[in-house]
Amino acid sequence: MRVDIITIFPEYFGPLDLSLIGRARAAGLLDIAVHDLRTWTHDVHRTVDDTPYGGGPGMVMRPEPWGEALDALVPAPAVAAGGSDPDLAGAGEAASAGAGNAEPAGAGGAEPAGAGGAEPAGAGGADAAPARLVVPTPAGERFTQAMANRLAGERHLVFACGRYEGIDQRVLDHAATRMPVSEVSLGDYVLFGGEVAVLVMLEAITRLLPGVLGNAESLADESHAHGLLEAPGYTKPARWRGLDVPDVLRSGDHARIARWRRDQALLRTARRRPDLLARAVAELDDRDLAVLAGAGFRIEQPDMAK
Ligand code: 6GU
Repeated sequence: MRVDIITIFPEYFGPLDLSLIGRARAAGLLDIAVHDLRTWTHDVHRTVDDTPYGGGPGMVMRPEPWGEALDALVPAPAVAAGGSDPDLAGAGEAASAGAGNAEPAGAGGAEPAGAGGAEPAGAGGADAAPARLVVPTPAGERFTQAMANRLAGERHLVFACGRYEGIDQRVLDHAATRMPVSEVSLGDYVLFGGEVAVLVMLEAITRLLPGVLGNAESLADESHAHGLLEAPGYTKPARWRGLDVPDVLRSGDHARIARWRRDQALLRTARRRPDLLARAVAELDDRDLAVLAGAGFRIEQPDMAK
């Protein structure tokens, strides 16, 4: 997967060299380039923001640098395939998508269009999926495991990190004429900017890419994979500070262990995330419902007659 990140704080992305994301990059599973938005400013102060039309507090990010950044980073063939702007159709330049020539973080912008090496056939051609623009904002659609799964299936993601009171809306409206655009929120709270949100999203996405996790089974049982929270985990020693590991986990009886883990997952979800349990209810069997009822949780089955 190809990832471009546009930000005024490239240093925020140092952690992408570490741990499993760093390893995925080194293995060529993930090609990430970080770009300083100020590369696409032309005034001596490299200004990226201005006061909001209509008044109010704070500053809004100016559209011009964003427009130039997206023009430079989104391959022209994708623009032609998805877009409605005849000026750009068939222009023939290719940015560096998929060609493995990511710049070092903070090195500045994309190459001028056309300078960025020919790509392998098909990597960014007219039949390749267009890049998707992802804009982190507290006003976005909620980021979930399901969304991470969908984004992990994309060929090319471009993350636009806003600061201040956000990016001039016309940047997103214009981009939407040539590529799919997702405004995405991590949850119901406000961050200073999109950078940390992009780190969160990229971590959730990277671990879903084929070849990143050694054991694909660890994806199957984890929290949220089946709409339930994961059961608690234990390791040695069997007794620690007077606390014992549950006997069932040391029984060797794999069916009992699986049943216990499901019960724990159900009870945890009922206590901590009743909203998730309500959505999973169609997949609960009679034994699940009995376990929940035994713990005092009354679950309404959906009315199948409707
Ligand atoms: Cl994605 N961005 C910002 N700036 N704040 C947020 C957020 C994203 N998600 C929750 N709060």
